[in-house]
Amino acid sequence: MHSPTLFSLSFLLLLLLLLLPCTTHAKLRPNYYHKSCPNVESIVRAAVEKKFQQTFVTAPATLRLFFHDCFVRGCDASIMLFLRNNTAERDNSDDLSLAGDGFDTVIRAKAAVDSVVGCKNKVSCADILAMAARDVIALTGGPSYTVELGRLDGKISTKASVRHHLPRPEHALDQLMPMFASHGLSLTHLVALSGAHTIGFSHCHRFSKRVYNFRSKIRIDPTLNLGYAKRLRLLCPRDVDPRIAIDMDPNTPQTFDNVYYKNLQQGKGLFTSDQTLFIDPRSRKIVNKFASNATAFERAFVAAITKLGRVGVKPGYQGEIRKDCTRVN
Ligand code: HEM
Ligand SMILES: *[C@@H]1O[C@H](CO)[C@@H](O)[C@H](O)[C@H]1NC(C)=O
Ligand SMILES: *[C@@H]1O[C@H](CO)[C@@H](O)[C@H](O)[C@H]1NC(C)=O
Repeated sequence: MHSPTLFSLSFLLLLLLLLLPCTTHAKLRPNYYHKSCPNVESIVRAAVEKKFQQTFVTAPATLRLFFHDCFVRGCDASIMLFLRNNTAERDNSDDLSLAGDGFDTVIRAKAAVDSVVGCKNKVSCADILAMAARDVIALTGGPSYTVELGRLDGKISTKASVRHHLPRPEHALDQLMPMFASHGLSLTHLVALSGAHTIGFSHCHRFSKRVYNFRSKIRIDPTLNLGYAKRLRLLCPRDVDPRIAIDMDPNTPQTFDNVYYKNLQQGKGLFTSDQTLFIDPRSRKIVNKFASNATAFERAFVAAITKLGRVGVKPGYQGEIRKDCTRVN
């Protein structure tokens, strides 16, 4: 009587053990370059700090670059590839607004790493981007965390692969959730990662429909705080210069903090994709928790960006360590 259940149990256990390596990304680990380039983290940090001292945009630009890289073909620095015929990932309309300072940060950090004896061509661009993203979060007052390493650089970058893979500012929770879920990211991860909008800029056209809707009698999105909407109209006049960009967090635009969630509670989420997190009862509780407890936000953000960093990590035969981050070897 006992043996069949015992047998099926151990069979199940075996199956689980066999499946485990496929579901976890065992290859990533904190001390990946311990032997090949032991000081890689301090070399990258110094290069990022230097760039950050020159311009604040370094921080939001690098953080957003990491997100866009991971969501399309995984965290493989495919976003860094440059093709002469302008058909790379970065040429897609969704990526054209990525600030050049993010790319520049990775290129400079890579040059710094490669200038150290023994480190040349040992560290992937994908890992340098992951480290740089971690560093800019700390530089703007956010949490410090251990970054997992061991990613390889991808060899493919196409404009077409971006389609439908990046969230849009008009999206509501029903559209955002499946997009994040397809990368193994939960609703809590989604809410925590959106907190990245606590720093950085947005061009006016990304949200102008929320404040100038002439097709509707209600010209201002009713979910927007009226005072904030009026301020947005002042900052972004109707016939706005497309180059104008404004702070996404109107209160502490240069600090990585939980004020983003307090803004959402007041109807001051810049995009529909931000405000939906407070409007939708499924995520409102999470927003309220992060707004009232900065530690809870920081911990959740670290867990979420670590999970994001594991998306689509390349096995050996699909990747390489690029010599030049903008082209395949
Ligand atoms: C949830 C869905 C998301 C949507 C719809 C979205 C959309 C956008 C849009 C439209 C902009 C403005 C771009 C511009 O006009 O130049 C922006 C900026 C930014 N996003 Fe997101 N985003 C999302 C999630 C994220 C995540 C997960 C991160 C990082 C973890 C992130 C980091 C940033 C940063 C830092 C900026 C400022 C960029 C800069 O100042 O150069 N976003 N986002
Ligand atoms: C663009 O260039 C890349 C690399 O040189 C090539 O693989 C790709 O086929 C080209 N695409 C088009 C549409 O010409
Ligand atoms: C805030 O969140 C942290 C981490 O989740 C938790 O340990 C702490 O008890 C929370 N504090 C309050 C006041 O709820």
